[in-house]
Amino acid sequence: MAEKEVKLTKLAKCAGCGAKVGAGTLAQLLEGIQVRRDPNLLVGFDRSDDASVYKISDDLALVQTVDFFPPIADDPYLFGQIAAANALSDVYAMGGEPKLCLNIMAVPKDMPPEAVHNLLRGGYDKVYEAGALITGGHSILDEEPKYGLAVTGFVRPDKMLTNSGAKPGDVLLFTKPIGTGVLTTAAKADMAPSESIALAHRTMTALNKAARDAMVKYRVHACTDVTGFGLLGHGLEMAQGSGVELEIDTGAVDFLPGAAELAKMGILPEGMYRNRSFAESSVDSGPAELWRQDLLYDPQTSGGLLMAVDPADAETLYGELQDCVPSAQRIGTVREYRGGKRIFLK
Ligand code: CO
Ligand code: CO
Ligand code: CO
Repeated sequence: MAEKEVKLTKLAKCAGCGAKVGAGTLAQLLEGIQVRRDPNLLVGFDRSDDASVYKISDDLALVQTVDFFPPIADDPYLFGQIAAANALSDVYAMGGEPKLCLNIMAVPKDMPPEAVHNLLRGGYDKVYEAGALITGGHSILDEEPKYGLAVTGFVRPDKMLTNSGAKPGDVLLFTKPIGTGVLTTAAKADMAPSESIALAHRTMTALNKAARDAMVKYRVHACTDVTGFGLLGHGLEMAQGSGVELEIDTGAVDFLPGAAELAKMGILPEGMYRNRSFAESSVDSGPAELWRQDLLYDPQTSGGLLMAVDPADAETLYGELQDCVPSAQRIGTVREYRGGKRIFLK
C-alpha cells in the first residue's frame, strides 16, 4: 500500500512544546482551585515542577507526568520518537527512572494507517530504549494529530531532584543545544537548511537518560528539563523556587547551527514572545544581544536538563557528562538572591 503523502506539521497549528499554554496563563487558570494535601505527596502541581512525586515507602516514590502535543516533524516515526523522548524527560528531570508508559493519541479520520503505525513505532522505540514499557493508552479522533505519553517512574525519595533546591555557589550545567523552536518554525516555512533541521531532530530524539544516569551519582541540588518555557522561563522557575538568582554566561550557551541566523532574521515562534512576556521583568539582559535573548526564550521541545550542581562536584560531573553527552555545557552559576531580578545575563 502506498503511503499517502502527509505533511504532518502542516496539520498542526503550533509545533511541539510551543503548543504549551503559557506559564502565566496556566497559573491564572488554576487560581482558586482547592488543592488537596497529602503528606506523602512530595511534589504536586502547585510547585511547577516537572512531575508529581508520591512517596510509597522510605525508599520508594512514584513519579508521574504526562506530555503530548501536535506534530513537530513531518515524518510520523520521527514525531513519535520526539514526543516520547520529551514525555520521558520529565521523569529524568526528577532524577527518576521511567518504567510504565501509556500512549495518548489523537488522529484525524483521514490519516493513513501506515502513518499512525509509524508514529506509534517511534514512541515504542524510544520507550524501549529508555528501558520502560508501553502498557496501553487511549486514542481519539481529532482534526489535528497529537501524540505523547503518560509516564510513571520510580525514584528514591531522598534522591529526588526538584527545581527548587539550587544553592548559592552551585554551578549550572545544561545538556542540549538551544534552538528547536526557531528551527522547527523555520522548517514549516521551508526556510531552514536541511542539515540544521536534521540536527534539531537528532537533539529532540535524544533521551535525557545518559545525563540523568550521570547526574544522580553526584551532589546535584536542583534539576529541570528545558521545554516549552525556554531556558530563561525554566531558569526563572528554578530561581524563584529555590529563592536564589542565576547568572548565565550567554556566550557559553550552545545554539543549534542555523538558529542564530534565523533569530537575527526575526524567524521566531509565537511561544518565544509568550515566554519573554512571562519572564522578562525578572531578567536583567545585560549586554546580551536581542537575537541571543530571543533564543534563550525559544520554546524547546525535548530540551536538555538544567542542573544546579554542588561546586565541589561540578567539574567531575561536567567531565563525565562530556563523555556521554557531548553537547553538555557549563552555562553559569547560582547566587544569593539580592532582591529584584532573578536572572542576570552576561
Ligand atoms: Co519538564
Ligand atoms: Co512536561
Ligand atoms: Co524536577
